[in-house]
Amino acid sequence: MCGIIGITSLTDKNLAQITVSCLEKLEYRGYDSVGVASLQGSILEVRKAKGTVKEVVQKKNILSMRGNVFLGHTRWATHGPPSDYNAHPHTDCSNSIAVIHNGTLKNFKELKESLIALGHIFRSETDTEVIPHLIEEYRKKGFDTFTAFKKAVLDLEGSYAILAIVKGENRIYFAKKDNPLVIGMGEGTNFVASDIPAFLDYTKKVVIINDGELGYVTPTSIYIEDLRGNVIDVTKRIRIIDWDAQAASKEGYPHFMLKEIHESARAINDTINGLLSETELVEEITERLKGSDRIIVIAAGTSYHAGLYFTILLNRLGYTALPVIASEYYNINAKRGDSVIAISQSGETIDVLMGIRKMKEKGATIISITNVIDSAISRESDYKLYMRAGPEIGVAATKTFSSQLAVLLFLYAYLAKIDYKELLSAPEVIKNSISLGEGIAKKVGEELALQKSVYYLGRGLSLPLAMEGALKIKEIAYVHAEAYPAGESKHGPIALVEKGYPVVFINDGELTDLLENNLHEMKARGAKTYAISVNKRLGAETEILIKVDKDILSPFAISPIIQLIAYYASTAKSLDPDRPRNLAKTVTVE
Ligand code: M6R
Repeated sequence: MCGIIGITSLTDKNLAQITVSCLEKLEYRGYDSVGVASLQGSILEVRKAKGTVKEVVQKKNILSMRGNVFLGHTRWATHGPPSDYNAHPHTDCSNSIAVIHNGTLKNFKELKESLIALGHIFRSETDTEVIPHLIEEYRKKGFDTFTAFKKAVLDLEGSYAILAIVKGENRIYFAKKDNPLVIGMGEGTNFVASDIPAFLDYTKKVVIINDGELGYVTPTSIYIEDLRGNVIDVTKRIRIIDWDAQAASKEGYPHFMLKEIHESARAINDTINGLLSETELVEEITERLKGSDRIIVIAAGTSYHAGLYFTILLNRLGYTALPVIASEYYNINAKRGDSVIAISQSGETIDVLMGIRKMKEKGATIISITNVIDSAISRESDYKLYMRAGPEIGVAATKTFSSQLAVLLFLYAYLAKIDYKELLSAPEVIKNSISLGEGIAKKVGEELALQKSVYYLGRGLSLPLAMEGALKIKEIAYVHAEAYPAGESKHGPIALVEKGYPVVFINDGELTDLLENNLHEMKARGAKTYAISVNKRLGAETEILIKVDKDILSPFAISPIIQLIAYYASTAKSLDPDRPRNLAKTVTVE
């Protein structure tokens, strides 16, 4: 959570503008408050306030700021509510050091108390503010700035991606642990940011910073060392990213979410082509899975639903597969002989990271499926598969859900000895589903937007898709939604059903006869019924029916429709689906 950007350049030309454009790309990581620091020689200025990037840029006239070094921060509040004074950057007592931070510091209270005892004055409720004061304290003791920065970092317990600037120095100090940080190398201008899309308009040359590393960037150089002081050879780390800047822009769509749903066909095409280029790795992974005592699938949110889909398939094949909600990882006793599949779009979700660390310690083999290359989760895995869906900016996961399913179904095809070529028409299925279903999905979304609560019911493989439908409409349209196994609905949930109560059935065509019984039960109680059906009509009042010629393709017919329903429910309420309240794209706090 929180987006951070630092820029250091040989020139001050357009730097405020560039910082703002990077902040706009990072805003999906948090949007409670925004702040910018500029530094020119010995003039350090901080402007910050509660609000969105657009609001704060205008209110604080950010574009008039001048300097060769800039820091920008967009916040998702953890310690201290969203407010002007809790917004980052935070400074030391003499306003000579400015710091931005993503993460949480477990020991900030103790540090703050000891700093206050030494006479430091605090101006916010944040954990972050201890950092500039610690650096100040060590500098007062006579250490040079980098040593003072290192000592301050060593005092911290918790997770962090930190950027710091100091009056009179044209460089940005950085440190990383458990939160993402990446350097972008430009011509006479270097960037340090939470993620690559932030600076993709300016450079594709990147250096990923690993956990426990710190250092500094100047406009023309990069220095990195690990916490033991070993100097890292940066030249070996440079990578050229093949995402284009266009992929991180809306390209005429009103929202990223809609653009990304429409990009799903392209995304899974790239996903499948990527897998076809590494079939040896896929074979190695599936052989490993075949020999595993248990297959533990760990993920959060949407990624969990993709994982649940996969575990149903695995269990049907005779494997012992266990779906684990990442934040409950401590309940699982993994052991040597188990394989763990970690699924995460961002590759940074802290609960997934903590879960795989614990299971790895116990001897399990970790296989990751992520979208962001070289993310923390992929780096800590024994085997890594990538979705290659391209950057996903909307907070709601859409094209990456379809891409996750594509990767998992590819593995399943190998395990079940189904010809994986059956998956090659998945992009066509998505396109067809959108072109047939978008109009009705809009109508359904607009109707559901008026409701207080809705059930999503499914059976078998339709259940994880029903869960995903409910999550989507909840998170971006703020309509309370609950997903249930359709048969289980008689054991409690049906009590809420009265005339006009909306029930959405997800019917992938496999268990249509059983679902039909549930539909009648709901209709008999006055429910307003909707269905998203594949191949077999269910008989709901409003129904979208999509035909596919292979069972393995059915989730690709359903996933864009549940996403479009949520999207149109959100826009019908004039909400911003890209920035749902209280949420951030990447959850890096436990
Ligand atoms: O990056 P991850 O896939 O690990 O993220 C997991 C969840 O935070 C994420 O899927 C979240 O539920 C989305 N906002 C759902 O649309």
